[in-house]
Amino acid sequence: MTHGGTALIFVIYVAFHLVNHVLAWEGQAEHAAVIEIGRKVYRSRIGEPILVAAMLFQIATGLMLSWRWSAKQLDFHKTFQVASGFFLSIYILGHMNSVFTLARWSMGIPTGWDFATGAPNGLIHDPWSARLIPHYARATFLVVGHLFSGLRVVMLAHGTIEASADRVWVSGTVFAAVLSASIMLAMCGMRA
Ligand code: HEM
Repeated sequence: MTHGGTALIFVIYVAFHLVNHVLAWEGQAEHAAVIEIGRKVYRSRIGEPILVAAMLFQIATGLMLSWRWSAKQLDFHKTFQVASGFFLSIYILGHMNSVFTLARWSMGIPTGWDFATGAPNGLIHDPWSARLIPHYARATFLVVGHLFSGLRVVMLAHGTIEASADRVWVSGTVFAAVLSASIMLAMCGMRA
């Protein structure tokens, strides 16, 4: 309940972050304009420590849950939830390490669209940056899928019949796949 209850900051940030990346379909300038609005909150002196603490808290509580659940025989849904959560705990640590330690503190470079897409070569034409395509695609799919797994558990706990909760989860994971593909196409240069 603590892990789910404190997920609100996580959900608000991730929703903004991913919608921001989809906006690159409109162009890099549009992406940059929206990221600047978000940065006023999540990179402010108060906002950033809260965001990082929320991420670390979700990781710590998520790892504790994974440890407990992975000792049991799990059905498909629980396996997806535990495995995606475990992956995300590693992804988020690595991602924050790239943004904070590598880019901002060590290399002193801005962490906007150019950083994310390996400019000037881009993701497709640079063999080293191309590794980021499955890296980001998987994370986007699994973070949205994981949130829908949480929603399914909440729905079942509130008496929703299993077939309906399952339909919501399937719709959520299809949406996750479409969102992931859209962001990756934009990152690889596709424009509306
Ligand atoms: C396509 C997938 C993703 C891309 C391309 C991406 C890219 C970026 C970029 C460029 C930044 C720097 C933002 C800035 O300078 O303002 C950033 C920061 C961050 N991202 Fe992501 N990200 C992705 C997915 C995710 C996911 C799935 C999560 C969480 C589950 C996440 C969590 C964070 C966090 C916590 C930060 C640090 C925010 C800060 O600057 O204080 N990202 N990401």
